[in-house]
Amino acid sequence: MNETIQNILSRRSTRAYKPEQITAEDLHLVLEAGQYAPSAANQQSWHIVAVQNKDMLKKLSETFRTVYLKSGIQRFEEAAKADDFNPFYNAPTYIMVFADDKAIAPTHDGSLAIGNMLLAAEALGLGGCWLHAVNFVFKTPVGEALKGELGIPEGYSPVGAVAIGYKAAETATAAPRREGTVTVIK
Ligand SMILES: Cc1cc2nc3c(=O)[nH]c(=O)nc-3n(C[C@H](O)[C@H](O)[C@H](O)COP(=O)(O)O)c2cc1C
Repeated sequence: MNETIQNILSRRSTRAYKPEQITAEDLHLVLEAGQYAPSAANQQSWHIVAVQNKDMLKKLSETFRTVYLKSGIQRFEEAAKADDFNPFYNAPTYIMVFADDKAIAPTHDGSLAIGNMLLAAEALGLGGCWLHAVNFVFKTPVGEALKGELGIPEGYSPVGAVAIGYKAAETATAAPRREGTVTVIK
């Protein structure tokens, strides 16, 4: 089978990571794949923040914990109370994608960048998982306050994030695809 198609079909979300960091070259390739995603009118409206610094990962994790504890959402509150709480599945690399509110299609642009990064990670033998909570956390005052320190430009909103690292366990095969979700008209 075509290698690219095989990669798309075999990629699965990884939710357990080894502690060792990915190589600088692999990080570069994953980020480059994100930057080469299609975007509306080629605006490339994303701003991608890759965090590998342990202190910053800890700071982000604690920020997520604070927001989860006050979320009023039971499953978030329970998760945040756990001693081993880690909103990134302990991945050593956490990549957040923000996009320019003024762009034509910021959410679509950012989502495609995330998709490319997940596929690039798989192609490099790494695991990845889309993590949605960045949307919630960075729309609260606590998250907003961190944006400057992370180098996120004014007027950019969160789209999603990706955990990346070496897989700590084999990923399962894909669930069967839902029937009836495609129409082909010839
Ligand atoms: C928009 C979006 C948000 C997601 N958010 C999360 C998340 O917060 N946590 C998580 O573990 N997985 C998250 N996922 C991963 C999905 O659960 C996963 O892609 C889906 O179950 C299919 O599994 P697969 O990726 O292994 O094929 C998200 C995926 C998408 C596209």
